Amino acid sequence: MTTDPTITGAFLAATDAPDPFQREQSIDAGRRSWDRIPAHYRGAVLDHPDAQEWVRSLVAAGLSRGAMVPRISRGPSLLLIGSTGTGKTHTAYGAIRALTSSGLSCSWEAITAADLYGRLRPRHRVDSEVEFEPFLRCGVLVLDDLGAAKGSEWNEEINYRLINHRYEHEQPTLITSNVPPKDLASALGERVSSRLREMAQRVVLRGGDRRKAGAA
Ligand SMILES: Nc1ncnc2c1ncn2[C@@H]1O[C@H](COP(=O)(O)OP(=O)(O)OP(=O)(O)O)[C@@H](O)[C@H]1O
Ligand SMILES: [Mg+2]
Repeated sequence: MTTDPTITGAFLAATDAPDPFQREQSIDAGRRSWDRIPAHYRGAVLDHPDAQEWVRSLVAAGLSRGAMVPRISRGPSLLLIGSTGTGKTHTAYGAIRALTSSGLSCSWEAITAADLYGRLRPRHRVDSEVEFEPFLRCGVLVLDDLGAAKGSEWNEEINYRLINHRYEHEQPTLITSNVPPKDLASALGERVSSRLREMAQRVVLRGGDRRKAGAA
């Protein structure tokens, strides 16, 4: 079997896409977008079976709409939960690499929740609504480390607006968090955690911290 280098033991390309030329165009655009993946995760290979299945379901949903240029724009979300160093961010970028290699058009954004709050903080001559737009609109969003920053009312409002928008429009969102499942509601608020419960499959990453100590 041909193996896709972005995903272990599988080949995800949409070989039944309606237009092979268009498929190649989407793959080229996807590969170019890898420049935006942080260096540490640029080679991330998706090896988690549940995350692989999520990617497969989004590719299938994109193809099933029968568009001339099939795109990944609607479908289920994924909530990756695990303690520090269990591979959440690796898995998230592995999923982005797999989705952008599939031959479907896939616009994506990835940001940590803390960086998002920083980006949206009121600043002179910066329209925060314009800054927010790509994260609301993109086909696939990775929202990394939700619940890690200290929760203020303002942070909660940003979380709510973002998650509610993506919930209402059924836009695939991969959320990572190191908040244990039983504490999600208190960390994120009932409105956000209720929506996440419905929109996202919850996957717990187990094991210890995979970060190795560097040579001293
Ligand atoms: N499946 C994997 N295969 C190879 N390396 C991995 C895998 N998962 C994680 N790693 C590596 O282990 C380290 C920790 O992974 P990662 O940064 O994804 O953890 P995390 O769960 O996001 O941690 P944190 O909660 O601190 O953000 C990184 O160096 C990453 O490259
Ligand atoms: Mg991480």
